[in-house]
Amino acid sequence: MLSAFLKAPGRMAALSALGFVLAAVTGGLWWQAQHQVVEVARTITGGDPSRAPDILRRYGCAGCHTIPGISGGDGKVGPSLAGLRHRVYIGGVSTNSPDNLVNWIVRPQSLSPNTAMPASGITEAEARDVAAYLYAH
Ligand code: HEC
Repeated sequence: MLSAFLKAPGRMAALSALGFVLAAVTGGLWWQAQHQVVEVARTITGGDPSRAPDILRRYGCAGCHTIPGISGGDGKVGPSLAGLRHRVYIGGVSTNSPDNLVNWIVRPQSLSPNTAMPASGITEAEARDVAAYLYAH
């Protein structure tokens, strides 16, 4: 039945065209949604996510954490930082807000005195770039 339908002249071409249009629309919607996530992350943190990959490697974050989109970001010492915007708490102690995240990244002991995560010497401005990146991924 299906093959008879497909054999009718022009049907295959029409189906291919439909498939192409659907793929283009879905791709466009995905791109738009991802673009919005990045814009929101920039706005709420005041950081620039494009600067984060270099910072995440320089301060050793990627050696301890698995971080999406970072080559060599496959550390297993701390939790994966994928999907951080969906978390309710940071470090299990602090509600997940941009200021708390930046604070955690710069001085984790101020929120959780016994945490194993070390203060790395990262600046507040760099932590904002990192926070923007983490909220966008
Ligand atoms: C020596 C290993 C180590 C390094 C280096 C390190 N972390 Fe962590 N990190 C941890 C551990 C362990 C935890 C879990 C801490 C806890 O729950 O008390 C953690 C927790 C976190 C959390 C909270 C995650 C969650 O699920 O709540 C964030 C965010 C984070 N680290 C970001 C960073 C960033 C950004 C850097 C680099 C500036 C960094 N870490 C460097 C070990 C590390």
